[in-house]
Amino acid sequence: MKAIGFKESLPISEPNSFIEFETEKPTPSGHDLLVKIAAISVNPIDYKIRQKAAQDKVLDTPKIIGWDAVGTVEAVGDKTSRFKVGDEVFYAGDLTRSGSNAEYQLVDERIVGNKPKSLNVAEAAAIPLTGLTAYESLFDRIRVNLKTDQRKTILILAGAGGVGSIAIQLAKKIGNLTVIATASRPESIQWCKDRGADVVVNHYKLKEELKKAGHQEVDYILDCVDLEGYWDTMAEIIKPQGHIVSITGSSKPLNLDVLKTKSVTFSWELMYTRSMFTTDDIARQHDILNKLGDLLDAGTLHTTRNTTLEGFTVSNLKKAHEMQESGKSIGKTVIRF
Ligand SMILES: NC(=O)c1ccc[n+]([C@@H]2O[C@H](COP(=O)([O-])OP(=O)(O)OC[C@H]3O[C@@H](n4cnc5c(N)ncnc54)[C@H](OP(=O)(O)O)[C@@H]3O)[C@@H](O)[C@H]2O)c1
Repeated sequence: MKAIGFKESLPISEPNSFIEFETEKPTPSGHDLLVKIAAISVNPIDYKIRQKAAQDKVLDTPKIIGWDAVGTVEAVGDKTSRFKVGDEVFYAGDLTRSGSNAEYQLVDERIVGNKPKSLNVAEAAAIPLTGLTAYESLFDRIRVNLKTDQRKTILILAGAGGVGSIAIQLAKKIGNLTVIATASRPESIQWCKDRGADVVVNHYKLKEELKKAGHQEVDYILDCVDLEGYWDTMAEIIKPQGHIVSITGSSKPLNLDVLKTKSVTFSWELMYTRSMFTTDDIARQHDILNKLGDLLDAGTLHTTRNTTLEGFTVSNLKKAHEMQESGKSIGKTVIRF
């Protein structure tokens, strides 16, 4: 099968930052499905791994990365029960396994959902990784209470990004929260409004703009950009007994004490935890993806796909990485095979 990977961690502009090659088509066993891939999307994790996995060394065989995928089940392992040959599926894969930058991929059926029927493969490829992250952040980490949280506010940092774009919709339509998203450019501000944000504030003047909008304090914060950079501000603007969830990270230890007086809860969200540790509830990702699919088919949620590149080529993969690395992405960039 054809695959695209890398042997060295090179800047994306270098000719060999990605190389096309042939490798053996895998065979499924156990819980695995063999999926013929029809479309993928690129996420920041893709370039972060590309930049680090082969630093100061040359790999013997190219590393295949890529996580979001949509495709058709071509064969199934002996312990599978959820899917059959011919089913159309979508998933975000497993960080510890070979990725979706290939014609075929093995994936554990417990982290796979049915592709939403009303979406084409490009529209569907935008959803799994960011959708799982946003859903788990809101409903598994913050545990937004659908009955009692109705007047509560959530601040979503980087509202127009891949995760923010679906988190705005889930927080508004499913969580019934008042959604305050951040964006700094006319096009990203408009994108957040179109996704359903009640208020959009500029992250570069965050406290000032929140105050102007009458939201000096918020009940919940979803950090989709820079935990370290926003830590002190978040501690200031979170309400007593509020909840902060971060999907990013910090290069240095953070002072948790600043949350103590207000009894604020802090949670991490890593959407790969369930697959990485094969947690007892790993199949919750199958359920969440199916739930997202139903909400997309019902028209409650809309795809976050913004750009589609046609063709599984080195050139398109490089373009998608370049866009993602710019930090200026709006919604998702998808590659249709
Ligand atoms: N833990 C997990 O499971 C998980 C899952 C998915 C992603 N992530 C991580 O979460 C982060 C976001 O991912 P993503 O796909 O949503 O990113 P993305 O699509 O690249 O986000 C782009 C957006 O970030 C905004 N932005 C740039 N600088 C900002 C700043 N200083 N403050 C606030 N917003 C800023 C930009 O808005 P403007 O152009 O309007 O400024 C842009 O629209 C990445 O670090 C990614 O690796 C983690």
